[in-house]
Amino acid sequence: MGREVFVIDGFGGRRVIDGSIKVNGSKNDAVQAFAASLLFKSGYGVTDVPDIDDISKMGALLEKLGVGVLKNNKKWSFNTKNITSHVIDPEIACKIRASILLTGPLLARSVKVNFPHPGGCVIGERPIDLFLDGFKQMGAKVEENEVGYKITAPKGGLNGVTIFFRNQTVTGTETFMMAAVLARGTTVLKNCALEPEIENLGRYLVSQGARITGLGTPTITIKGRAGKPLEAKKPYKVLPDRIEAGSFLILGALAAKKLKVEGVRVQDLESLLAHFERIGVPFKLGQSSVTITAPTKPLQALEVKTHEYPGFPTDLQALMAVLLTQAEGESKVFEAIFEGRLVYLETLVRMGAKTQVMSQNRARITGPTPLTGASVESPDLRAGLAYILAAIVAKGQSEVHNIHYIDRGYECIDERLASLGVKIKRLT
Ligand code: EPU
Repeated sequence: MGREVFVIDGFGGRRVIDGSIKVNGSKNDAVQAFAASLLFKSGYGVTDVPDIDDISKMGALLEKLGVGVLKNNKKWSFNTKNITSHVIDPEIACKIRASILLTGPLLARSVKVNFPHPGGCVIGERPIDLFLDGFKQMGAKVEENEVGYKITAPKGGLNGVTIFFRNQTVTGTETFMMAAVLARGTTVLKNCALEPEIENLGRYLVSQGARITGLGTPTITIKGRAGKPLEAKKPYKVLPDRIEAGSFLILGALAAKKLKVEGVRVQDLESLLAHFERIGVPFKLGQSSVTITAPTKPLQALEVKTHEYPGFPTDLQALMAVLLTQAEGESKVFEAIFEGRLVYLETLVRMGAKTQVMSQNRARITGPTPLTGASVESPDLRAGLAYILAAIVAKGQSEVHNIHYIDRGYECIDERLASLGVKIKRLT
């Protein structure tokens, strides 16, 4: 798997794409939906699940806990009647950050959880202090050993408490919302992240009997069920992936005469579209689609600062930077969520971009500059896709290595891009 390479023949700046592409279910919604299985007494299903590596790994982690896992196309079913282990498999978990999502519901359900420091994309330091502090606040004992952490809930189960997140954390908010559903008493989560996936999880849990208020706001209150699992009446429907949608829209802005991105929730894309308006990318909104058309004037430079939702998503920052290499003037990029998420710029420079790195988190991009094909290595999932976009715009051939990162989050990306006329091949 690690040896696979994408070979891309670029369009050399021409606008060749003319078609439509459908967005899949959201990776980051699906991974938490899988973790939520542990809150249910027995049967539970999740629909619209993307076929990607992170999802297979979450499924495998649940199986190792004793959960019955069945995959039928895009629908997964879980039987959580017999949870036989409280150990989150370290070998799998160290490859996927989302494994941390299992800690909250597993601790609430099984009273104990052992887990390693979670792995995942290399996008700077990704601490878990907010998780450890939160568990301690809920009365749990936290021990650290050479493999990772051992957490034990207090006698009678986790206590409902007030937790103030020092940083808005997406998986932290999700983890503690899930843990609180089975805790004793009321939990109040403050300074919660506002990503749509959190609200989707919360609304689903409420529809299945959980008592949660304040969804979609920074303060979420959960009345715990004192260890009594929920009973699933209907399956969890995963949201369309707003980051995948944004990735295709940026592709359209770079290389399409016309590209219709279908199956989206337009309201989740507001920040990107506001940036498109400013930069001069024409788009038309449908009920569940956005259509990009070729700009009639040169694209304009822009300042992009990543921000928690509803601000500009950090997961689209590298892709946007590729677009900025084609905009006229000096653009600025400020990565405010993760340190070390600008390392991909060095590679864009090799492909012809003109950038100036001001600090670990700030850079300038001067454009427009034609890009040329190169052999590049994906440093992480999103930067990997940014390289694919750069290779599509570039003149000549590119090789994108380390594509297992890209397969983690984008289903069959090569086949889907090829269906739009992109000249991309997967070589082993
Ligand atoms: N943070 C702490 N301590 C913690 C947890 C987080 O300081 O214990 C900090 C982080 O270092 C960061 C900030 O809080 O500076 C926000 O991180 P967050 O916890 O929100 O990130 P995450 O939950 O680990 C999710 C997505 C990421 C996405 C970020 C930000 C999932 C499974 N992952 O990560 O998605 O970049 O939110 O939006 O939901 C991706 O899909 O490529 C991806 C990396």
